Amino acid sequence: MILLNMQQIKSEIGAFQHVEAREIGASEQSQTLDIAPSSARIVRAELVRELWSDDDPFKYTNTKDVDDAYPHTNIRESHIEAILQVQEDMLFWLEVGSMLGGSAIRTARVVKQKQMDALSIICIDPFTGDVNMWAWERNLKEQNQFRFLKLEHGAPTIYSRFMANVYANHAHDTIMPIVASSIVGMKLLERLLSEGRLHSRPDVLFLDSAHEADETFMELQHAWSLLRTGGVLLGDDWSWSSVSNDVRRFANGVDNIDTEKLNKVKSLIHGEFDGAVLVVDGIWYLAKR
Ligand SMILES: C[S@@+](CC[C@H](N)C(=O)[O-])C[C@H]1O[C@@H](n2cnc3c(N)ncnc32)[C@H](O)[C@@H]1O
Repeated sequence: MILLNMQQIKSEIGAFQHVEAREIGASEQSQTLDIAPSSARIVRAELVRELWSDDDPFKYTNTKDVDDAYPHTNIRESHIEAILQVQEDMLFWLEVGSMLGGSAIRTARVVKQKQMDALSIICIDPFTGDVNMWAWERNLKEQNQFRFLKLEHGAPTIYSRFMANVYANHAHDTIMPIVASSIVGMKLLERLLSEGRLHSRPDVLFLDSAHEADETFMELQHAWSLLRTGGVLLGDDWSWSSVSNDVRRFANGVDNIDTEKLNKVKSLIHGEFDGAVLVVDGIWYLAKR
């Protein structure tokens, strides 16, 4: 039954097979890229159609913006592999909070190694940084250190660096960003689902976004209801009390946590339970029944 639906969806979006490069006029400053994402990654293809009218944002990547200096990508390949092992028939990995693409690119690498040709990685982020990043920017600039925001003309350049990094790592056929806050992005996906414009809920949701108390709690509420039944919700930075307090509070208030699935993850990558939450190397996990 699921296969039949996938076939129907694939034929609907056959037009995605190849994204043509735009004709370049002599006066234009930059050339658009010729990219060819696969129509097999159904979620990515549906979103390109529904949100960008088939005009794939990666065509406009400026390859000069590559920046691989971000130091805080904590999710490990072993974590990603464990999740891919406990989930079946995966189509949709949603990441909320992507920064320069470190975790998404790492995920894409594992997905490709495992030849999971139908899985899309969608990244929701306004690409405007968090409170610390703004507060630290001036000092970091003065000390000539890595700058999170790298402000140009008053605005962060995170998005263009994300796009260039994803492209440089050949992951643009798998990854697609939605430039929106966590709540706007997750509400948008709910809306597209309810309007029949998107056909899959996330199988996995990796939350690494606001890190603010209460805001994280709201993100968890939206993430949990967006996630498919049987899905895995995980996130970074358990060591931040703003994060762990909200995750604990959230986990205590829901009655559909799949402890059996979390135990399967634990058998693969160890870690410890904090109440209903599995914590492994600073990454926290919940599974939805
Ligand atoms: C810690 S970084 C993400 C790192 C990335 N996941 C990695 O491991 O490489 C946090 C990101 O969250 C984003 N962010 C901050 N507030 C957000 C919000 N309310 N909604 C979505 N993203 C947010 C920031 O723009 C930043 O890119």
